[in-house]
Order: sequence, then structure tokens, then C-alpha cells
Amino acid sequence: MRLKGRKVLITGAASGIGKATAEIFASEGAAVAAVDKTWAGAPDAEGGAQRYTCDLTKESEVGTTVEAAIRDLGGLDGVVNCAGISLRKSIEDTTSEEWNQVIGVNLSGPFLVCRAAVAALKASGKATIVNVCSGASFRPSYNFSAYCASKGGLLMLTRSLAFDFTQHGIRVNAVCPGVIDTPMIERAVARSPDPQASIARFKSNASARYGKPEEIARVILFLSSDDSSFVTGSAYGADGGSAFH
Ligand code: NAI
Repeated sequence: MRLKGRKVLITGAASGIGKATAEIFASEGAAVAAVDKTWAGAPDAEGGAQRYTCDLTKESEVGTTVEAAIRDLGGLDGVVNCAGISLRKSIEDTTSEEWNQVIGVNLSGPFLVCRAAVAALKASGKATIVNVCSGASFRPSYNFSAYCASKGGLLMLTRSLAFDFTQHGIRVNAVCPGVIDTPMIERAVARSPDPQASIARFKSNASARYGKPEEIARVILFLSSDDSSFVTGSAYGADGGSAFH
């Protein structure tokens, strides 16, 4: 029960890494506010988590949702910004709407959530923010500029907030996953002109496999618990050894 008594808001909690995080956090004793744009594909609540429907690209929705979560939980000790979308397109083919949507969900969403949550997190006295970044926060990938820019920005937002908030008792860290077996990757493979080649490329890490959502959720758990009490402003890689390839 490493999160016993802690109140945590998790975005992107209906699917993939966010869903696994909500489940593990609930099993470790946290009260969870699970936020997502849609719950259509998630019939079961994540270990009793309270669900909120919110489009993170809508500023007013984010404000009211974070406010409602803080009220319902009776405060807030942690935020996990996990919601994200991917776009593999050349810059010539990327419309302004697509660019704004990727930056809106992946970068402006966490900004809006953090801004709405910060007063409650300061009041906690011992709070955490974990932003789900990516290997793309560091390295470009072919036809992936909007996503890479959003995740590079999210990593620098993480470090900036760690710098600003450590004195207020808020630790802020990033987890940078490699390729994880979630619906996001299933969709990427399905859209690929050569699915087998995509799968082979996605598994070209030292471990020669996809990561599991739970394997990222456990890193997020570490960064949200007292086990990481001296860790802030860091970027935790969890990528099966992608750096060696
Ligand atoms: P997923 O597609 O399974 O889940 C993403 C969730 O975000 C979905 O439930 C979706 O409804 C929600 N979402 C999307 N747009 C939203 C919006 N406007 N407002 C609120 N919620 C919204 O994806 P996955 O793989 O679990 O990804 C989670 C995070 O991990 C993302 O930030 C992604 O960029 C990041 N990541 C994923 C990797 C992977 O290989 N799966 C690798 C590196 C990073």
C-alpha cells in the first residue's frame, strides 16, 4: 500500500498506460480521479476510481474537471499526465488542425491540468507530478515532428516545474517509455503500409519485445511514492534498452 491515503488525478485513464496506472494506484491504496475524453472502450472502473469525462484540449472543461476532482477527493497529492495522441506524418502533409491537436493534447493539456491543480498540490505539502513523455522527447523519428515537438516540450515543462515547485513540496518527474503494447501502438501498426516491418522496428530494442503497460505504471508508481523522495526533475527511461540500438 505504497500510496495509502493519497489522492491522485490520472489523465488518459481509459486505455493503455493510463488505465494500468489507475489500476495499480488503486491497488496501492490511492483514491483515484480517472480522467479521459471517452470511456466507450472501458466498461470496468479502475479499482473503484471515480471517472471524469474531459477533453484536455478544452480549457474550460479542464478547469471544471480538476476542480470537481479536488472537491470529490477532498484535496490532491498527485497528478499523472498520461493522455496523449500520436501522428506520423511529414510536415508537408500535417495540417494546422492536426499540429494544434497533438500539441493541445500532449503539451497544453498537461499545462492546463498542472495550472488548475497546483494550489491543491502545494496544500498537500508532499505532492508529485509525473508526466508521460517518450523516447521522442530526446530523439527524432521519421515523419514524427509534431509528436516529437510535443514530447520534447513536455520534458522541458517537467524540468521547469520541478525547478519552480520543489521548494513548495512538489516533485515533478517524467517517464520516457519505449514502445509499449497499447491501443496506440496497435493503431500505428494497422495504419502502417508494412505492418510486419513496423512491428520489427518497434521491437528493435535490447529486450527485443514491446513493454507492457504495467511496466510503465510501476515506474510511475515509484515516481509518485516516497520511494523516490529525492528524485525530481528527472527523466526515467523505461524502454527495454532502446538506447543500445
Ligand atoms: P492509448 O491510446 O492507449 O491511451 C491514450 C488515452 O488518452 C486514451 O484513453 C484517449 O482517450 C486519451 N486521450 C486522447 N486524447 C484526449 C483528450 N483530448 N482529452 C482527454 N483524453 C484524451 O495510448 P497509450 O499508449 O497508453 O499512451 C499513453 C501515453 O504514453 C501517451 O502520452 C503516449 O504518447 C505515451 N507513450 C506511449 C508509448 C507507447 O508505445 N504506447 C511510447 C511512449 C510514450
